[in-house]
Amino acid sequence: MSPCLRVSEPLCAKLSRKREELRTQRLRDTEARSFAARDDLGTSDDVQHSPHGCYACAARRIDDTGDPDDCRSARVFYGATDGADPRRNHAPVCPRCGRDGPATAAGPGFRPILWHRGHIGAYEAYWILHRSKGDTTTSAEFQRIFDPINTPRDDARNLPPLDEIDAYLADVRRQSVSWLSEPGGAADTATFDLVLEHELQHQETMLYLLHLLDPSRKRRPDGLVDRERPDLAATNGRVRVPAGSFEIGASGPGFGYDNERPAHRVEVRSFGIDRTLVTNAQFMGFVDSGGYTTPEYWTDKGWAWLESENIEHPHSWLPGRRWRVRGLFEDREMDPSEPVWGVSWYEADAYARWAGRRLPTEIEWEFAARGTGSRVYPWGSAEPKPNLGNFDDPTGGPTPVGGYPDGVSPFGLLDMTGNVWEWTSTEFAGYPGFRADPYPEYSELWFDGDHRVARGGSWATRSPILRTSFRNFFRRAFRIGFIGFRLAD
Ligand SMILES: [Fe+2]
Repeated sequence: MSPCLRVSEPLCAKLSRKREELRTQRLRDTEARSFAARDDLGTSDDVQHSPHGCYACAARRIDDTGDPDDCRSARVFYGATDGADPRRNHAPVCPRCGRDGPATAAGPGFRPILWHRGHIGAYEAYWILHRSKGDTTTSAEFQRIFDPINTPRDDARNLPPLDEIDAYLADVRRQSVSWLSEPGGAADTATFDLVLEHELQHQETMLYLLHLLDPSRKRRPDGLVDRERPDLAATNGRVRVPAGSFEIGASGPGFGYDNERPAHRVEVRSFGIDRTLVTNAQFMGFVDSGGYTTPEYWTDKGWAWLESENIEHPHSWLPGRRWRVRGLFEDREMDPSEPVWGVSWYEADAYARWAGRRLPTEIEWEFAARGTGSRVYPWGSAEPKPNLGNFDDPTGGPTPVGGYPDGVSPFGLLDMTGNVWEWTSTEFAGYPGFRADPYPEYSELWFDGDHRVARGGSWATRSPILRTSFRNFFRRAFRIGFIGFRLAD
């Protein structure tokens, strides 16, 4: 099947001819830098949630445009029938909320889901219509409202109604697709990829926020049936990964943020690592044995954080006669075989100390995920499919660990892609030779000693951003994301 789907062959030919031209293109002008600064949330407490909630607003590398013949951007923006339409995820998110849910912040420091929805459109309008097409006639008011700097968090409570926002999104998308059909737009696949990546990352952020809402403020959509849960594979146990070397990071022409580059060869010493994620049942042992009341398991900063925040259990757990968990739409009994999540890096690190083990470094994690070869995913380079892991499922949730043996890594590890993100011990920093591209606000600003790297993706992560080289990064105290961990030694 032609990868271009609805894109005509002549259009693909045009894309190919523009390839070299695109490789030399840069978005380094003053305007681009200004936009990055305006869209950055680094100085706000909104950074309690995923940095990619808005750090993703920064542009990706523009000189590595991918293979235009793949026509991925065009395919997605045209709403292809292969399930790649990015709107199929977040479009129903707001209607699933109760009447006031999407317009109400889940708590202090968080913008409403509705704001993120409008922000996706404003971002698309800026990068595709304004910067790529040169059309600055789109709604200045929406550009202001959905700009995180121009509209402080408190002002984000007074938003246009959902219908107006959706009309704006549809209009921007219509104009974007129209621009794509013109030669100038067709050549600019890099910008389309950038906008796609941004939208997909905001979708997961919106799900974090939707999950935070009390069940009384949202409703399960009619007819939604939970995804079939996989049979539990042989799960427990750890593997010994032999010493070796491999190329870490994003190489080749495909999508990759500046923090994934340059790819470089690293040596890895032999290490042990669990085949599966730490489960609720395992984490309960830590809770029941006084893990949250024993300073010896915690770093000084972690203990100070725990005391100041009165943390006593994972964010996703609900205390009672028996532990329950908060699902996306309703509370339910805890499944002990599911991975624990809703834990900060501090909590993951404390658990590891309690267990007499440690978190893997991100080098160890990526080596365990892809082995010595150049595979894009743990299972190889085939595109993500539902049998390979728990991802790309925006109405789902975590599944029992180790349930997708078809997605096993070269060293026998399971759930390395999807289910929940995985904390690593590694402080977020640039790879050797790192060059901020196109500007430092995307990654470099967060090389601050506090952020830690998380890898692997969650059940809510969309497949275009599941590449093994992807580096997520969060503050150590961040705990509302779909993030768990596995242990190493
Ligand atoms: Fe953003």
